[in-house]
Amino acid sequence: MRRLTSFLSLFILLPVAHADTIAVVGTGNVGAALGTEFAALGHTVVYGSRDPSSSKVVDLVARTGGDASATTQAESVKGANIVVLAVPGMLVEEITKSLGDLSGKIIIDPTNPIDRSGPEFKMGVSSSNGEIIQLAAPDASVVKAFNSLSWQTMIDPELSGGPVSIPLAGNSADAKAIVAELVEGMGLEAIDLGGIENSHWIEGMLIMWLNNRYGGEREPFDFYLRKN
Ligand SMILES: NC(=O)c1ccc[n+]([C@@H]2O[C@H](COP(=O)([O-])OP(=O)(O)OC[C@H]3O[C@@H](n4cnc5c(N)ncnc54)[C@H](OP(=O)(O)O)[C@@H]3O)[C@@H](O)[C@H]2O)c1
Repeated sequence: MRRLTSFLSLFILLPVAHADTIAVVGTGNVGAALGTEFAALGHTVVYGSRDPSSSKVVDLVARTGGDASATTQAESVKGANIVVLAVPGMLVEEITKSLGDLSGKIIIDPTNPIDRSGPEFKMGVSSSNGEIIQLAAPDASVVKAFNSLSWQTMIDPELSGGPVSIPLAGNSADAKAIVAELVEGMGLEAIDLGGIENSHWIEGMLIMWLNNRYGGEREPFDFYLRKN
């Protein structure tokens, strides 16, 4: 149904409940997946890139369609009410601080902090990226979301063979409700896990998955969270 809606929106202007301006910082796999999905829902997407005039980013803007654009990371957040940090998981603190004043904005955090230095993957932080970003931007409302599934499943949930739920963690119920609307618009389901400190557990799930996937002796698996 969502695919049909996206297709139809190419031809007719379908109303969205309210159109947000969403800065997507980072133009890799996750930034591209979420940016194109949010634009298909009728939101204004501004990509924030270290090199906004690169052919990679110019192609992404064209592929995103609507009124999407790209600029530097710090510029992208200025007019946005929602900021997505689709950036390397071990750099979130410095990148958040480099973006300037994020007061009053919702920050969606899909990142995973991965320590790849030893024989096994480990959590790269002792708390969680969700909490680190919230501390770096204390007057913003951070919502952990989208870190528990691959970018391919984000854009095509049917790959999983059934509904996929996105766990949300954050201290603001209002911010979680707005992110839940985006999640549902993408054909996914939202589950509220409570406060931002619960990011720790969702981020840990990926470490478990990585060690079994690449751990040699262990049995690889996939997981999808699903509401019953
Ligand atoms: N890949 C997945 O399926 C997946 C799924 C869920 C969550 N995640 C998490 O989501 C985050 C992004 O993953 P991804 O797969 O999209 O990674 P990616 O393809 O490597 O993209 C990350 C983007 O961040 C920007 N970036 C890279 N180095 C930077 C730096 N030093 N300073 C500022 N920006 C920098 C780049 O955009 P510009 O070149 O435009 O600056 C880059 O394209 C990671 O934390 C990952 O763990 C990934």
